Amino acid sequence: MITLDPQGTAAAAAAAATRPARVALAGFGTVGRSVARLLQHTPDDARLAAILTRRAAERRGEWPASGVTWTESIDEALDGADVFVELIGGLDPAERWIRTALGRGIPVVTANKQVIAERGSALFPLAAARGCELRFEGAVAGGIPVLGAIAGGLAGDAIAQVAGILNGTCNFILTRMEQDGAPFDDALREAQALGFAEANPAQDIEGLDARAKLAILAMVALRVQVTAGAIPAQSIAAVTPLDFQYAHRLHATIRQVAWAARNGAGDALAAGVGPALVPLTSPLARVSGSENLVTVRGQFGGETSFGGRGAGGGPTAVAVVSDLLAIARGARQPRAWRPLPQGAVSTEFATPYYVRFTVADRPGIIAALASIFAAHGINIDAVLQEPGFPDSARPFVVTLDAAPSASVAAALRETAALAFHVVPPLALPVLRSGAPERP
Ligand SMILES: NC(=O)c1ccc[n+]([C@@H]2O[C@H](COP(=O)([O-])OP(=O)(O)OC[C@H]3O[C@@H](n4cnc5c(N)ncnc54)[C@H](OP(=O)(O)O)[C@@H]3O)[C@@H](O)[C@H]2O)c1
Repeated sequence: MITLDPQGTAAAAAAAATRPARVALAGFGTVGRSVARLLQHTPDDARLAAILTRRAAERRGEWPASGVTWTESIDEALDGADVFVELIGGLDPAERWIRTALGRGIPVVTANKQVIAERGSALFPLAAARGCELRFEGAVAGGIPVLGAIAGGLAGDAIAQVAGILNGTCNFILTRMEQDGAPFDDALREAQALGFAEANPAQDIEGLDARAKLAILAMVALRVQVTAGAIPAQSIAAVTPLDFQYAHRLHATIRQVAWAARNGAGDALAAGVGPALVPLTSPLARVSGSENLVTVRGQFGGETSFGGRGAGGGPTAVAVVSDLLAIARGARQPRAWRPLPQGAVSTEFATPYYVRFTVADRPGIIAALASIFAAHGINIDAVLQEPGFPDSARPFVVTLDAAPSASVAAALRETAALAFHVVPPLALPVLRSGAPERP
């Protein structure tokens, strides 16, 4: 039964408490359809009242239940609604519709990472001013209830770091490369054929999807608002099956890791998204296929990990309906609406590195590289070389002791001027604890 009182009046609460919450659902795609199905099992708490979509008249046969209005008008959808669920994705009209609902004092649930990461700082104060909830559990790690667990269950800790595998498509591709030696392009095609990857997979591969989720995670876990676009992102496209062979020799594997850590006492964060070496013993290394994992490191509680299905209609709909039920049952978001400081993202951190070079072989290459690294104060830890490659394109790996990211970047720029490269070098951070050693 609904107990929410968006207008703050006892009379509204008393009236609403006698009936299930009426849900206006925008978007009837993968997640929207699953939400409609799940709401069939919650008749006492919440029921579907309206579906807002394009070509509503044409599509109404897709969910012909009685008492459900199909409409193309936000005003009609919100008429008499107790909760608005936004599942269309993108910024417009999603943001506009969320504003309209909040403006009318109607609480909102969304799974839209883009709208929360990019417009959350304006939407939260609006929700606060109207005294209503804006929930978004489905926007990060799909079916894993990590935001609620952090904001509620870990509220007593001082969280210093979050790290995770937040993009199931990349994890699927990387684990296919690891387990079967599949080249990147084949693993990507397989992900597309199985429906994991979009026809245009750039958002996943380049790390843009994961960094929007990371910005939301940082907001909830580290209580700092950062712009997703300020988080550096590196593509996974240059990783090859050979890199997994070298990583295994180093007792590590490669995952697309999204990490953020407090950087000193202020509101600055160090953060990044991209392929990284993680130890085989790390929980991040054990995530395979399209699963997601988030690890949180607290000053008092140490490391806690949350894993499971990070995407898909069913798991994401569970997160959406759970948010919706929390609203219908009158729960209040923990730490609701305290304005957050706007934090800067530092791209400076220190960590060990893995660098794979592919060269046209000739004497003196290692000496030339060593002298450039030494000039930047970077110490070489080891040089690894698998046998059996032709002189014309011979790969080898240099591992570096922990070094500042800026120094490594500067050294690599300098090495790029040397004439022996056949393929641009690939430099990956080694994240022994899920994040750099000195953020
Ligand atoms: N799928 C997942 O695994 C997953 C996981 C976590 C979060 N999410 C998030 O959940 C949201 C929905 O994702 P989805 O996978 O369900 O997307 P989807 O399958 O593409 O469905 C989107 C729905 O919204 C409708 N829509 C889009 N723009 C509209 C507009 N301007 N006016 C009216 N209707 C519009 C689409 O209608 P048409 O058919 O007419 O285009 C479609 O019915 C997104 O924010 C996504 O990031 C998805």
